[in-house]
Amino acid sequence: MTRPYVIDRMISAKEIAARVEALAKEIETAFSGTDKLVVVGLLRGSFVFIADLVRELDLNVEVDFLEVSSYGNELESSREVRILKDLRGEINGRDVLVVEDIVDTGFTLNHVVAYLTAKNPARLETIALLDKPSRREIDIKATWTGFEIPDEFVVGYGIDYAQRNRNLPYIGKVRFTG
Ligand code: IMP
Ligand code: MG
Repeated sequence: MTRPYVIDRMISAKEIAARVEALAKEIETAFSGTDKLVVVGLLRGSFVFIADLVRELDLNVEVDFLEVSSYGNELESSREVRILKDLRGEINGRDVLVVEDIVDTGFTLNHVVAYLTAKNPARLETIALLDKPSRREIDIKATWTGFEIPDEFVVGYGIDYAQRNRNLPYIGKVRFTG
């Protein structure tokens, strides 16, 4: 069950689109020599971000997905990360970009990077739409970050609270009213 809440707008759809465009340019430059970039989205929170990001990338791109255990209906990380759905393709010897929605404690990204590094990619970089540096428990940072945000629980643009609000076109913060 979730407590009653309202959503206060934090980052507009326009601001997100501008930032995604700028990030895509940086990624294109960083991977300019690649024959193929495997873009790995972490399900489910990154699905909107990865969709917008790959459409801005003028590179030969393959899209794959990885699902790791999530918060369930909680606001806090379990700090235990399990692979629920593995990649379909091989990344051995490939250039890989991992796409995450939010880096919070850092447990998820840290685990995913270790897991994928063991598959021997040629190069592995990471991008997170949002970063909450004040919440970090593991010293890790994505190669690229969209926006640094304060310690607020956010929804929208793919990100959920108990599976709700993923379809909001902007990022908003959850404010409990009850
Ligand atoms: P971490 O393992 O604590 O870094 O958590 C990262 C994951 O927690 C992200 O992939 C998100 O799915 C989820 N998460 C962290 N903060 C929020 C939030 O404010 N709203 C929704 N999900 C969040
Ligand atoms: Mg997630």
